[in-house]
Amino acid sequence: MLLSYLRDRLRLTGTKYGCGGGGCGACTVMVSRYQPGTKTILHYSANACLLPVCQLQGAAVTTVEGIGSTKTRVHPVQERIARAHGSQCGFCTPGMVMSMYTLLRNTPQPTMEDIREALGGNLCRCTGYRPIVDGFRTFCQISSFQGSSFYCPACVFQGLPPQLFDQGDLLPLDPTQELIFPPELILMAQTEPQMSQRFIGENIVWISPVSLDELIQLKADHPQAPLVIGNTNIGPDIKFKGALHPIIISPTRVQELFAVTRTAQGVYIGAGCSLSVVKALLEGLVQELPEEKTEIYRALLQQLGNVGGQQIRNVASIGGNIVSAYPNSDLNPVLAAGSCKLSVVSKGGRKEILLNKDFLVGFGKTSLKPDEIVLSVFIPVSRKWEFMGALRQAPRKENALATVTSGIRVMFTEGSSVVKELSICYGGVGPCTVSASRTFFLPTNRPWNEQTLSEAYTVLLDEISLSPSHPGGKVDFRRSLTLSLLFKFNLQILHKLWEMVRTGSLLVHGIRPLPNQLQPGIQVFQPVVNGQSVDDQVGRPVMHHSAISQATGEAVYCDDIPKTDGELHLVLVTSTRPHAKIRGIDVTEALQVPGVVDVITSKDIPGKKFRTFTGVDEELLAENEVSCVGQMVCAVIADTREQAKRGAAVVKIHYEDLPEPVFTVEEAMEKKSYFQPQRTIERGNVTQAFEEVDQVYEGEIRLGGQEHFYMETQSMVVVPSGEDRELRVYLSCQHPTYAQESIAETLGIPSNRVSCHVKRVGGAFGGKVTKTSAIACITSVAAWRSGRAVRCVLERGEDMLITGARHPVLGRYKVGFMNDGKIIAADLHYYANSGNTADESVLVVEKVLLHLDNAYNVPNLRGHSVACKTNLPSNTAFRGFGVPQSMLVTENMINDVAMKLGRNAEEIREINMYKEVSLTHYKFQFDPKNLLRCWDECKEKSDYDSRRQAAGEFNQKNRWKKRGLAVIPIKYGIAFSEGFLNQAASLVHIYKDGSVLVSHGGTEMGQGIHTKMQQVASRELHIPTSFIHITETSTSAVPNTCPSAASFGTDANGMAVKNACETLYRRLEPVRKQNPTGTWESWVKKAFLQKISLSATGYYRGHDLYMDWEKQEGQPYAYFTYGACCSEVEVDCLSGDYRTVRTDIVTDIGRSINPSVDIGQIEGSFIQGLGLYTMEELQFSPSGVLLTRGPSQYKIPAICDIPLQFNVYLLSDSDNPHAIYSSKGIGEPVLFLGSSVFFAIKDAVAAARAEAGMDGPFTLDSPATPERTCLACNTDFTQKIPPSRPGSFKPWALNIP
Ligand SMILES: Cc1cc2nc3c(=O)[nH]c(=O)nc-3n(C[C@H](O)[C@H](O)[C@H](O)COP(=O)(O)OP(=O)(O)OC[C@H]3O[C@@H](n4cnc5c(N)ncnc54)[C@H](O)[C@@H]3O)c2cc1C
Ligand code: FES
Ligand code: FES
Repeated sequence: MLLSYLRDRLRLTGTKYGCGGGGCGACTVMVSRYQPGTKTILHYSANACLLPVCQLQGAAVTTVEGIGSTKTRVHPVQERIARAHGSQCGFCTPGMVMSMYTLLRNTPQPTMEDIREALGGNLCRCTGYRPIVDGFRTFCQISSFQGSSFYCPACVFQGLPPQLFDQGDLLPLDPTQELIFPPELILMAQTEPQMSQRFIGENIVWISPVSLDELIQLKADHPQAPLVIGNTNIGPDIKFKGALHPIIISPTRVQELFAVTRTAQGVYIGAGCSLSVVKALLEGLVQELPEEKTEIYRALLQQLGNVGGQQIRNVASIGGNIVSAYPNSDLNPVLAAGSCKLSVVSKGGRKEILLNKDFLVGFGKTSLKPDEIVLSVFIPVSRKWEFMGALRQAPRKENALATVTSGIRVMFTEGSSVVKELSICYGGVGPCTVSASRTFFLPTNRPWNEQTLSEAYTVLLDEISLSPSHPGGKVDFRRSLTLSLLFKFNLQILHKLWEMVRTGSLLVHGIRPLPNQLQPGIQVFQPVVNGQSVDDQVGRPVMHHSAISQATGEAVYCDDIPKTDGELHLVLVTSTRPHAKIRGIDVTEALQVPGVVDVITSKDIPGKKFRTFTGVDEELLAENEVSCVGQMVCAVIADTREQAKRGAAVVKIHYEDLPEPVFTVEEAMEKKSYFQPQRTIERGNVTQAFEEVDQVYEGEIRLGGQEHFYMETQSMVVVPSGEDRELRVYLSCQHPTYAQESIAETLGIPSNRVSCHVKRVGGAFGGKVTKTSAIACITSVAAWRSGRAVRCVLERGEDMLITGARHPVLGRYKVGFMNDGKIIAADLHYYANSGNTADESVLVVEKVLLHLDNAYNVPNLRGHSVACKTNLPSNTAFRGFGVPQSMLVTENMINDVAMKLGRNAEEIREINMYKEVSLTHYKFQFDPKNLLRCWDECKEKSDYDSRRQAAGEFNQKNRWKKRGLAVIPIKYGIAFSEGFLNQAASLVHIYKDGSVLVSHGGTEMGQGIHTKMQQVASRELHIPTSFIHITETSTSAVPNTCPSAASFGTDANGMAVKNACETLYRRLEPVRKQNPTGTWESWVKKAFLQKISLSATGYYRGHDLYMDWEKQEGQPYAYFTYGACCSEVEVDCLSGDYRTVRTDIVTDIGRSINPSVDIGQIEGSFIQGLGLYTMEELQFSPSGVLLTRGPSQYKIPAICDIPLQFNVYLLSDSDNPHAIYSSKGIGEPVLFLGSSVFFAIKDAVAAARAEAGMDGPFTLDSPATPERTCLACNTDFTQKIPPSRPGSFKPWALNIP
């Protein structure tokens, strides 16, 4: 594929690997082709991971390196994403840049809609997208950002608050300066005769014919050879399913496959046309033809906008989509219902085939004979009185395969509402596109009305009956969608009939789509104090220190490090059993695979076979027993990654299954399968208080886990130096010292022989603390044994399988309250699914208990938490470390109280909030003043009261759409409760030319710690930041570091850097005094001559925090960060889809050291929280196999998911005596505020239920996916689905926790 060619052969490492399957956009490049027919050049974005190099004959490929660099000229696209703070860890940035660059090559003044569409296939896990959109919005025509409240240079003069970046001095976009298409390629296309080509590789022969005859002959000779056009089906099949195709035919140069012919009856579209070309073509036809003729075209357009991301649509062909016959193809139901036909050729001649159920015969199967080729697709124009609809529901609004998708066509008898023909086809409810043929006939010759439809639903329900074990699960939801999508179509038809024959009644509300216009947001922060020197950068929105090199692709991530001579690749072999004894590991065949050098098993570990973290041992490679699918058993090293993979595939592990694995927390509770210790905390007298309250309610909520989905997968390179048993380890991790110690113990050597180096991390979020170290230990054993450098970079699927996730939690509670809303007693139980090893689970469940009060003063409060040991992969730290789970349970409890009392949850929250200086349930004194200020300001800024009223009015008028609001507070403890982890150190050198090199113990993961350290050093040394360079994090420079975690990195390392810089500045004092008017450089030179040391270490001892679980009291945090967030959503009750209409966040982060970095953390973690609570679903098979192993199955928020209006306010006039420069930690807290979207959805669902006559508390588990939301709305359609009896079938996926 192009990606490996670019990265490995050409050493162009700016293009990144994020998933390898077209789902993340990290590998986006621009492909340009000369079109001899039109003499134009076509530019399109594409995923290099799916682009076969053989297919690029005659094409020019532009990568991020090609458009600009720091050595030559930075391109405006690169500059603007960086300047707008749209690059945090930077791993997604080159892909974003290339998507935007391609858009600008085609449309130099795009609209916001163009930008949204162009970036729809690019994922970012850090920023929350808002700054990326804002940076690129500056390319829009003036009219599309007129009226916005930001970037207006005039604001400065009008005295409005400062902006995060100044639009005034951005590099202008000059399309005439762009790279030209290579003239030799134009000449080649014009003059050189087209010849067929054959590329013969190790395992594949790639044939590219130029004529149709040749293609037909090739297909006759090699009927089993696939025709590869976009490679978006065949590519992932080869890569992820191991499909073998010794011969591949690539007909991209056969012109007949790209021909478009129009007739009066419709249009023939060449089967090779990409979906983008088809979309543009249909858009043209819709403009040109009378509306009544374009029903099918408009329905197809509806679907085409949702198929994959832009990069996929640019290469995926319409023929490929049809022939791939996916169960949930979006095009086939429309084409089938629209009576479209295929022209097919083979040696036997040409024929036309109706695209219907006789053509789509099974999963990935059509009735096409192996030697037949689809030449074109005929799509008819619609007739008068014919209407077509295409509706779908997917786990994410865009770039996600549909759960259910449909094409419905109805033809009426002229001038009436009597049905003449009906055609209903669905995707997602069977092995292939399903046509509801029994339902077709029912309404024929009958009027389209409620009676007919209601009978049709009954037949449909019977006709499309899925087994409860249906692959993909969500059975009740899918079945209800078949009904509700038909009902939505009905609403559209009623509307049209009303317009045409004035029959029925006008029901417009149900058919309006959810709003999707992105509005400019507001970011408010404090200006620096008057008189602060311009060189003093503290408090200013300084750009991320390596944002530009991230945007140019020059930033070096672990796998970008050039390969050393003789370097080997390591691939892990993992358990396929959830719980079994290992009876033997047979590596004979693996060792015979060419290129394989060694297979590492536990027996090969020279030192300690365990890694230990906070006193808990964890086996590195399973020796005698495995306890989850995905547990590391051995590792194959080979000359190339492909060879190592081949070797790993033939390692044979003989298992003896052990009985009854435990997967859910309920099973763990039954078997008392817990990690120790369990924790309990209590204040007041809960048991007695329950006797005295007006009402008692018991409830529960389940919260699923969350995959870290850092864009850079686990990566490392271990290089033995060859002498003195020294190893240099380059890795992407949050805790280099732990990696160093673990490696040293594993190899049985002292720590001083192992140096760990972290330049930057492409996202971590807690997932690169313990898990990275374990893999680094194994890689080090491989390097140790072989004496060669070894590289291990996990593929996305391996990473998701092996490295665990956020802990899923079951929360149960009993709450006692008075009729006025005051909660008197609460008893909460948390069961966390920890997986097969303890990892940090006990610490996580401790933090769960420490935060269960959130913002509320419940006088009698008891909590009990336990880490359940199960046979799933071991879960680990994840941003928030148990707090997001803990507080969701608490807030859900408050919601239930509100529902019991028939009041708004916000009222109950206010009644119970801490109001004055108080003690937490662990007797820690704090002042909630700023919590209350955040709450009040949030309500005020969001205009909560009037919007709540407006939502009520909206809900009264809309039967199928409901709006909901929620305001959620947070009180979040900062620092490690294990006091020793709060220390930090630094090393600062001043060189003779005045330049300064700073090393500290924090790792740069996108959170901007290096930028902030630069700002600290700049203030302390009184020099501009341009003098200061922050080097990699290295255990050789700064030893014994603590993890970059707990939102404490800046607090700790900032103080350590400050300390070193103060020392140095003091040392320079004599020379400064001697020459007060001298320059920094002159003082430094002088100091050297006077033999003053220009190097200093800095140290910060940190807070002595503790928690005494025996006494149930302590001071586990240095201080609290506070915040409040109001979100409003609109929910489509028929599909469960929702849109966050607006979010307002107010946070107290003291005096921000860098408002752009901090707002970036706030927005990014909010969106990650939104993902946790509303979208991201980890699914496990009944035998404990993780099913969701890539962006195709696991959906993180994309650009389509961000709030339409997203405002962030940093609380003014807040100080914090406990941290550097009065700032506060902010990396984690806001993640929980994503739950405001969850509770807003719940609020909307409550409105829907109230209309259906259902009041009072109800269950809505997290994430509130469209499935859960729709089923909770309890519409007429969901009520028609008879629930499957639990226990009577084997579900497709387990209900975890
Ligand atoms: C990340 C991602 C997201 C996606 N999202 C969606 C989505 O939301 N909705 C949706 O419907 N689809 C989706 N798809 C599927 C995508 O639309 C199809 O994979 C694509 O259209 C197939 O076209 P292709 O040219 O890439 O096929 P290829 O992979 O090149 O070929 C696919 C198959 O079709 C056969 N074939 C191709 N052309 C012909 C022909 N002319 N005659 C006979 N056989 C032919 C080949 O032999 C091969 O077996 C997604 C795919 C990816 C990778
Ligand atoms: S790496 Fe290509 S799309 Fe993810
Ligand atoms: S900045 Fe986008 S993934 Fe990190």
